[in-house]
Amino acid sequence: MDKVLEKIYGMSDADCADCARHLMLGGGTRGGPMLVRGQGVRLYDRNGKDYIDCTSQSWAMYLGYAHPDINRVVAEQMERLSHVHQGFDTLPRFYLARELTRLAGGDLNRVSFTVGGGPALEAAMKIAYKNTQPSRDFICLYDSYHGTTLGTMGASWVSTRASGKLIGGSRYLGLTRPFVRVPNPYCYRCPLGLKRENCGLACARMLRLTLERGIAGNAAGFVMEPVQASGGQIIPPAEYFQEVRRICDDYKVPLIYDEIQTYGRIGRFFAHDHFGVRPDIIILGKGFGAGLPIAAVIVSDKLKGFEPDAEELHTFANTSVGQVAAAKLIDLLEGGVLENTRRVGAYLDQGLRRIQRDFPELGDIRQLGLHIGLELVKDPDSRTPAPEEAVRVRDAAMADGLILGMAGPRHQVLKIKPPLIVRQSECDEILDKFSRAMRAVWRK
Ligand SMILES: Cc1ncc(COP(=O)(O)O)c(C=O)c1O
Repeated sequence: MDKVLEKIYGMSDADCADCARHLMLGGGTRGGPMLVRGQGVRLYDRNGKDYIDCTSQSWAMYLGYAHPDINRVVAEQMERLSHVHQGFDTLPRFYLARELTRLAGGDLNRVSFTVGGGPALEAAMKIAYKNTQPSRDFICLYDSYHGTTLGTMGASWVSTRASGKLIGGSRYLGLTRPFVRVPNPYCYRCPLGLKRENCGLACARMLRLTLERGIAGNAAGFVMEPVQASGGQIIPPAEYFQEVRRICDDYKVPLIYDEIQTYGRIGRFFAHDHFGVRPDIIILGKGFGAGLPIAAVIVSDKLKGFEPDAEELHTFANTSVGQVAAAKLIDLLEGGVLENTRRVGAYLDQGLRRIQRDFPELGDIRQLGLHIGLELVKDPDSRTPAPEEAVRVRDAAMADGLILGMAGPRHQVLKIKPPLIVRQSECDEILDKFSRAMRAVWRK
C-alpha cells in the first residue's frame, strides 16, 4: 500500500476524533458508520460490518462500488491524460457530446460540460436567460431541490419554510436568486387539497396563472425535476408533462428538466423516454459519471448557446477521466443495466406492496425504475405524516446493515435508490431488512 494511504487507513479512533475538530460540514448528518471500502452494492465500515447501500451515496454510484469496467477505463485514461483545459479539444469530450445528443434525440443537439449539479443548473439558467431577455424570473416547483450554490439555492426547498422552519438556505437570501414557486404535482398530498380524479391538473394551471399574473414580464425559464427527488420522491402524472409543455410553448418559456436524479435511474436514459415530452434543456450530474464528478447541459437547437468568450468557463469542465467514465456508463446502461433497472425496480415494487399489506403505515409507494419513495403515515386514512417513525425505521435498518435515504422536507419519505446493478437476490435482502425495520418500529 502507498505510504500515505497506510497513514490514512492506519489512523486510530483517537486520531479520527482529533481530525474531526478540523472538519466543517454544511450539510449531511455525521455520526454514521466510518466507511472504508465498497464492492458492488455493499459498503463496509472499519469494523468489517457490511451494508447494502440504498442511497448510492448521494444517488451517484450508479454502478456501485469498485466496478471493474469503470476502474479499468478510469485507470487507462489516467495513464493517458487526465485533466485538460476546456479550450483544448479532446477525443473523450467529442465522443461523449455526440453520444448524449444521440440518446437525447429531437433537437437536443448541443452539450456543455461542467463540474457539478448546481453549476449545471446555473449554466442552463444562463442559456435560458440569454434567450428570453429582458425576462429575469425563473419558476420552479414547491419542494424542488436544485442545489445550494448561490444561483440555485433559491430554487431549493432548503431556502423555504417547507420543513416547518427556516433552515440553511434561508440565511443567504440576500445573495441568492429568488425563484417563483408553483404547486408541485404531489397527488398523494396535493398542496391544493384536491383529488387527482377531478383536479383538472390545477397545479399545472397555477403555472399558467403565474405566467399570466404572478410575475412581471415573461419568465426566463421553468425548471422541474421530472421526478421530484429530495422533495419526496414525487412522480407526476404523464398528462402533467403535456400540459406544462403546452404552457411553456404558449409563453415561449424554456422548459428545463433537472435530470440529475432521473437519468438512467428511472429505467430509461431520459424522462422524455418515459413521459413522452421533451424539454428545451436537460441538466445531468451525480450518477452521470458513475461516481466521478462531471455534469452536463444538453440544449435544444432552438436556443442560442454559449460563445467561447468566458460566458461559461470552469477549470475542471473538461475532465477526460469523468468523460470516459460517463461514456462507459452509457455503454453499460445500453448493454443491460437499464433493463435491469426496470426489472428489479418492478420486483422491489411488488415486494414492497406485499409489505404494505401488513403495514398500512406504508402509505404510498412511488416507484419508477430504481427511483423509489416510501411515504410513511400514522394511519392510511388520515395520511398524517410519520417523520419520527420514518427516522426510527431508517435507524433500525442501518443497525441491520441497510442504508436507506430520507426525503421530503417533512422527513416522512424513505428512499430506496440502490446502484442500478443491484441483483434480484440483493433485492430480497433489502425487502427482508426493510420489513424487519418496519416490524421493529410498529411492533407487528
Ligand atoms: C435534482 C438535483 N438537482 C441538483 C442537485 C445539485 O447537485 P450538486 O449537489 O452536484 O450541486 C441535486 C443534488 O442533490 C439534485 O438532487
